[in-house]
Amino acid sequence: MNVWEADDLYIDGDLEQPDLQRQTMRPELTEDDLGLDRSLRPKKLDDYIGQTKVKENLSVLIAAAKQRQESLDHLLLSGPPGLGKTTLATVVANELGVPIKSTSGPAIERAGDLAAILTNLEAGNVLFIDEIHRLNRVIEEVLYPAMEDYMLDIVIGKGPAAQTLRLEIPQFTLIGATTRTGLLTGPLRDRFGISFRLDYYNDQELHDIVVRSASILDVEIDDRGATEIARRSRGTPRLANRLLKRVRDFASVRASGSIDVHVAAEALSFFEVDELGLDSMDNRILELLVKTFNGRPVGLNTLANALGEEPETLEDVYEPYLLQQGLLMRTPKGRQATERSYKHVGVPFDLFEL
Ligand code: ADE
Repeated sequence: MNVWEADDLYIDGDLEQPDLQRQTMRPELTEDDLGLDRSLRPKKLDDYIGQTKVKENLSVLIAAAKQRQESLDHLLLSGPPGLGKTTLATVVANELGVPIKSTSGPAIERAGDLAAILTNLEAGNVLFIDEIHRLNRVIEEVLYPAMEDYMLDIVIGKGPAAQTLRLEIPQFTLIGATTRTGLLTGPLRDRFGISFRLDYYNDQELHDIVVRSASILDVEIDDRGATEIARRSRGTPRLANRLLKRVRDFASVRASGSIDVHVAAEALSFFEVDELGLDSMDNRILELLVKTFNGRPVGLNTLANALGEEPETLEDVYEPYLLQQGLLMRTPKGRQATERSYKHVGVPFDLFEL
C-alpha cells in the first residue's frame, strides 16, 4: 500500500545539472518530472492554462460546494498521460481549501489497504486515486458504499459465521484519474457525479505554459523559441515542460543560455524530437506500418510484438496522439498507416497498392 500527503508526492530531482543525455521524450511521468512538476504546477484554477471548459465547470461546482459547505461530488478525470489530471486534482483540493491524499489503483493491493486509507480521511478531504481503472475488482467493491453512503462494509470472520459490520466514514471527495474511461467498470463510472475528459492542448496554450514555466525556472526565452517548443510538444504540457528543461540545458552548454527559435530547433533535433514532435518510438511505429506492413492493417498484438511493447502501452501512450494527428487509423481489421504517415516517413502514397 502506498499513500502520500500531497507534498510527499514529489521526489526532488536535480534540476540544475545540465545533462545533455539523449532521453526518449515520452509523456509518462518520470522521477525527474516529479521534481520539475513541483515548481511548475499551477496551484490555483486561475494559473492553470488550457482546458477552458473544464475549468469553467469546475469553478462553478467548487463555488457551489463551498457555498453549501458540502464536500464536492466525486470527480472522474480522464485523458491521455501528461495532460494535467494530477495537477488538476491538486488544484481542486487547493480551491476547496482541503488536504489531498494521493494513491494509485495498482498501489492498493488489498481491501484492507483501502479501508485503512478511507478510515484515516477527515471530513472534506480529497482522496486522489490515479490509474483508477487498475483497481482490483474486489477492492473496487469496497469503494461503492464508501462513495455512495460514506459507509465501509467490513466482513469479520469466515464461512457461515461471517458477519458484516457497517462503519461510517467521513464525507470525502474521490478524484479518480484514468487514461481510458472505457476500462472502468460501469458501476464505478456511475458513482462519479462529475466526469471530465481532458483534451490535447493547442499550440497557443502550450506556448503560454512554456513561457510561464520558463519564468519560474528563470530562463530567458523569446516568443518564437516558446512557439517552437510548444509546436513539438504533442499537445502535452508535461512534454512541453520536459522539452523546455532539455532545451535550457542545451542552451546553457552550447549557446548563451537564452532560448530563441534557432537554439530551440537545434536542441530539439539533438534530442531527436522531430518537426511534428514525434520521437524515435513514434517514428518506428509509422515505419513499421508503412514499410514493414506495406500499409496493410495490422492487429494490435502483432504491432506491439514488433515494437517489443505491451499492447496496453501502445494503446494508452503511443496511439492517442498519432490518431489525433491523423498519422494512424484504427480499422476493424487493425491499425493502418494514413496518407499523412506515408508523407512523414517519406514514402510515396499509392492507394492502389493497399
Ligand atoms: N504546467 C503543467 N500544466 C500546466 C497547465 N495546464 N497550466 C499551467 N502550467 C502548467
